[in-house]
Amino acid sequence: MKGVIYNAVEDAVTKLYSADTWDDLLDEAGLSGEYTSLGNYDDGQLTALVGAACKATGHQPDELVKVVGEHAFPYLFERHPELVSATGTHAFLRAVNDIIHPEVLKLYPDSNPPEFEFEDRPDGALRLTYRSARRLGTLAEGLIRGAAKQFGEEVDVEVVSGAGDEETVFDIRVLSTSALPSSTTQQTA
Ligand code: HEM
Repeated sequence: MKGVIYNAVEDAVTKLYSADTWDDLLDEAGLSGEYTSLGNYDDGQLTALVGAACKATGHQPDELVKVVGEHAFPYLFERHPELVSATGTHAFLRAVNDIIHPEVLKLYPDSNPPEFEFEDRPDGALRLTYRSARRLGTLAEGLIRGAAKQFGEEVDVEVVSGAGDEETVFDIRVLSTSALPSSTTQQTA
């Protein structure tokens, strides 16, 4: 996995807890933590960090990855403002698949972002099917929640099928939109 994802996870852990916590997790996982954004790192390092964090907090891996994904989102979002013209969660998720992840692939040909498929449901939900051999649907769910927060929308993210599989289906419903979208710089809550 690209180092930028590890950088985003570090940013989330530091904001949620502290820089010391991140160092403790690296120690516990036996990792050096020198992630450059363009480097490629074994996916096992993410698993080891999640394992260390679960041991330290007593949380379940899925819950933990979701929370980290939600708080890792601003880091990714802020690094590519030029790619973002969407102003709502649904449109943004389509842009991630049609523009952002393909751009990632162009910039870093050795990367392997996940694929999404979309379907508009009769009840107004956006059905998003996540596909990746990495089985990181829980990270995707966290990032989706982070995106909604960014756009000032309250969303319901329902896992329709495939939690933890190579294919996870989500129904994403926008429940309400706040008048003021949340700031793009402060996402610590
Ligand atoms: C809600 C929005 C997003 C979702 C749901 C999402 C989902 C994911 C997931 C789950 C992964 C892990 C790899 C996998 O599952 O195969 C990933 C990888 C990645 N994403 Fe996104 N992403 C989002 C937004 C972004 C944004 C805004 C950027 C910034 C440009 C970005 C850049 C990347 C990069 C660089 C990777 C690493 C690919 C690799 O290591 O080969 N993503 N994305």
